[in-house]
Parts: sequence; C-alpha cells; structure tokens
Amino acid sequence: MIYARIAGTGSFLPGEPVSNDDLVARGIDTSDEWIVERTGIRTRHLAASDVTSSDLACEASRRAIAAAGLQPEDIDLVIVATSTPDCIFPSTATLLQAKLGMRNGAAAFDVQAVCTGFVYGLTIAEKFIRSGSHKRALVVGAEVFSRILDWSDRGTCVLFGDGAGAVVLEASDVPGILATALHADGSHHPILCVPGAVASGQVIGDPFLRMDGQAVFKFAVKVLGEVAHEVLADARVESETVDWLIPHQANIRIIQATAKRLGVPMDKVIATVDRHGNTSAASIPLALDLAVRDGRIRTGQRIIVEGVGGGFTWGAALLQF
Ligand code: UT7
Repeated sequence: MIYARIAGTGSFLPGEPVSNDDLVARGIDTSDEWIVERTGIRTRHLAASDVTSSDLACEASRRAIAAAGLQPEDIDLVIVATSTPDCIFPSTATLLQAKLGMRNGAAAFDVQAVCTGFVYGLTIAEKFIRSGSHKRALVVGAEVFSRILDWSDRGTCVLFGDGAGAVVLEASDVPGILATALHADGSHHPILCVPGAVASGQVIGDPFLRMDGQAVFKFAVKVLGEVAHEVLADARVESETVDWLIPHQANIRIIQATAKRLGVPMDKVIATVDRHGNTSAASIPLALDLAVRDGRIRTGQRIIVEGVGGGFTWGAALLQF
C-alpha cells in the first residue's frame, strides 16, 4: 500500500510586522482595542507592491524542500492554493516552478478554494501520491490578500495579511494522512467574495473583498466543528488522542469556539492569527511550519488541519506527522 506523509515544511512572511496602531497611523478608522477584542489580531505582514504570491511561495517552498532533504527537481507535482495569483494565467504554480529552477516537467497547477485552498491542495496531492502516479508533491498556500482589500472598509482591511506556507508530501510505507474531507456549498457565495472580473481591458464590477462578517463567523464555527468530527470518525480516532488542532487562522474567537466544540483544550491549538492576521490559503501551512520549527509538533503526533473560506468551501485532514 502507498501512503503519503509530510516530509518537510516551510514558510515565509514578507517585511516587518504591521501593528494595529500602524494601521491607525495610516488613517484607518479603527483601534488596537477593537481589533484585539473582536479578532485577536495584533500584527500582520504586508508585501511590498512588487512582491507576488509566487515570490512568497518560492521562499516558503525552498525552506520546505530543504527541510525534506531534497532538491527542487526531486518534486514531480506542484500545487499552489491561492486566491491572489500573480496574473490570470499562467498559474502561480508554473511561475513558482520556474522560480525554483525546476526543468523536470513536473505537473503544476493552482487550486482555488480561498481559505480552504491548502486543505484542498493537500487532499488532491495525497490522492495523486496514493494512486502511484506521483512520488513527491510540493503543496503551497500563498497569498497577497493586501492587493484585494478596500482600505476604506475597516470591517475587512484590518483582518488580513500576506504570506506563504509549504509542505513536501512524499510516498511512504506508513500512513501520514489518516483521513480527509472536502466540502463546498456555492449558494453561500455572496457572504464572502471578490465579485469583480477582468474583461475587455477593464475591471468589471467590484475588485475588492466583500464580507458579511457575522454570517461568515456563524458558518465557520458550524462547519469547522462538523468537518473535524468527520475526519475523526472516518479514521476511528478519538478527539482526546489528537495532539494538535490547526484551524484556519481568521479570528481567535472562531478558533476558540471550534476547539470547544471538539473538546480540544486551547493549549493543544496552534494559533498564529495574533501575529499573521488572516492569510487565507497560507494560514494553515504557516501555522504548521511555525509549530514544527519551534519544536511543538513532533514526529508521530496526530494533527487536525481544517479550513473554511469563500465559496463556501470547507475541509479537514487528520495527519499522523
Ligand atoms: O477566512 C474567513 C474569512 N473571515 C472570517 O472568518 C471573519 C468572520 N467574522 C468576524 O471575524 C467578525 O464578524 C468581524 C471581526 C469581521 C467583525 O466582528 P463583529 O463582532 O461581528 O462586529 P460587527 O461587524 O457586528 O461590527 C460591530 C461594530 C460596528 O459598529 P456599530 O454599527 O455597532 O456602531 C462596526 O461598524 O464594530 C464596528 N467596526 C469597527 N470598529 C472599529 C467594524 N470594523 C471595525 C474596525 N474598527 N476595524
């Protein structure tokens, strides 16, 4: 039997942290007190205007590939989850492939599932590897969400940040991904979207992120609880035996509510939303890499990663690290 396991992780954040007070100093009608109380966010990273998702992905990928003890040309599948691609086409994954110097003909494509994108990408890569068609996949979440924020909309612009996280997934004799679950319900698309498009040389419609925060909040708490239970049941694993929960990092109150529904204490939850804000598809692999590198996550531990985002999409994976 062929399984898939994570062989290395990496991440990258652009520039210096930007504090809530820095946003106030830039003229946004908000306060550190409001942002911390409602979201838990204290800082985020914002990429310079000439830095793209593939640039951030490249740095994170180099670190993940090095952590796996590999070279870029050892990778035979590249999947990038992003809602802020460098351009309409080609895919950010192929641009990343070029930046990594890969000339081995590896398959490369993007996944668009917004904040659930990394979980979708990981699940797709696992199925490629388990089928025997591919041996080593690079799965990346990379975003420059600052590009799609309306800086005059204080209800959204304070919430998001830029960054990238990556994992190398490789074929293994022992299981590294015990269960996965992916879902979507497109009827909820109006509550979180960037409705605009490019046509006839112009932006048609609204090019900024729009969100009904309270509707998203309620939906997120509900499905994050459900989908975590789904992967636990699928793998016949009790929640008490899970070492770490890594939910999508959007709001500390969503994270706390999700952990409570699962009966997982907060000291088993990896939370980076205070430092990174919401980095959409990058948030889970960023948090995973941070906890691997600071020694909290160790070989053999069980981890639930789970996301929810625009679409709506949601999903989870139960990992045996
Ligand atoms: O990746 C998934 C995407 N997003 C999420 O998961 C986000 C989910 N939603 C949330 O995290 C929360 O709903 C928010 C943090 C977005 C908002 O928190 P809330 O407790 O739902 O606040 P609200 O939208 O009900 O707004 C409450 C008040 C309003 O003022 P009034 O009408 O009560 O006078 C807002 O105008 O807070 C005001 N407000 C702000 N005040 C200061 C909204 N944004 C800000 C701000 N600074 N940045």
